[in-house]
Amino acid sequence: MRILMIGDVIGQPGRRAISRMVPALRREYGLDLVVANGENAAGGFGITLETAHELLESGVDVLTSGNHIWDQKEIIPHLDEGLPLLRPANYPDAPGRGYLVLGDVVVLNLMGRVFMAPLDCPFRTADQLLREVKANGTPRVILVDFHAEATSEKQAMGWYLDGVVSAVFGTHTHVGTVDARILPKGTGYVTDVGMTGPVNSVIGSDTGAVLERFLTAMPQRLPVAEGPVMLNSVLVDVDPGTGKALTISRVDRMVG
Ligand SMILES: [Fe+2]
Ligand SMILES: [Fe+2]
Repeated sequence: MRILMIGDVIGQPGRRAISRMVPALRREYGLDLVVANGENAAGGFGITLETAHELLESGVDVLTSGNHIWDQKEIIPHLDEGLPLLRPANYPDAPGRGYLVLGDVVVLNLMGRVFMAPLDCPFRTADQLLREVKANGTPRVILVDFHAEATSEKQAMGWYLDGVVSAVFGTHTHVGTVDARILPKGTGYVTDVGMTGPVNSVIGSDTGAVLERFLTAMPQRLPVAEGPVMLNSVLVDVDPGTGKALTISRVDRMVG
């Protein structure tokens, strides 16, 4: 089973890249499932119902998210309406859901706590939810989007879930890492998938505005940058019988 995990989609340039690239990538790789992190899809901050639908209509099957999921308040009531749009599972008592089951596949979204909000423990949340999904029948393929800042916390989650899930994909930093590999017990792992958005930017935002913020330490609106766009993603082949990853590699494309 071939799965593509796409890094945080940034605003309109990112959405445009998704609509141009995903149908072609689906054909090129014979993809069975496409997951994308959509937390920055609406103007760089949050996701709206309209931008979620745009990504789903472009060929994304499941949208994950992270700390920015609450930025566009209009999406909050829709998080409970059965859209394939997740928020991190370890938000305590928040609207929405942190995992979904699609046939034999489970997609689970978790968020880190190092240099981030003090949510429930992502490790224990993973244990609890995986027990819950396994009680309802054994899913074959389990994919985790671990949305976290610290590389150490992400690597730790990879080791924690090695042999338990099919893949752990890090997201949130918007900078792809070169460590995609299969861990010893068969879990595909990458510290960060990266982003799908403007390359001439600071993690997707306009460089001038970000510099102003660093140089003055004053709050500053951060518009999405313009110019050429890249798509960052990670391709994983999973044995549907065992749920173990067979191959993992980065797929990074300049979109123009
Ligand atoms: Fe992000
Ligand atoms: Fe984030």
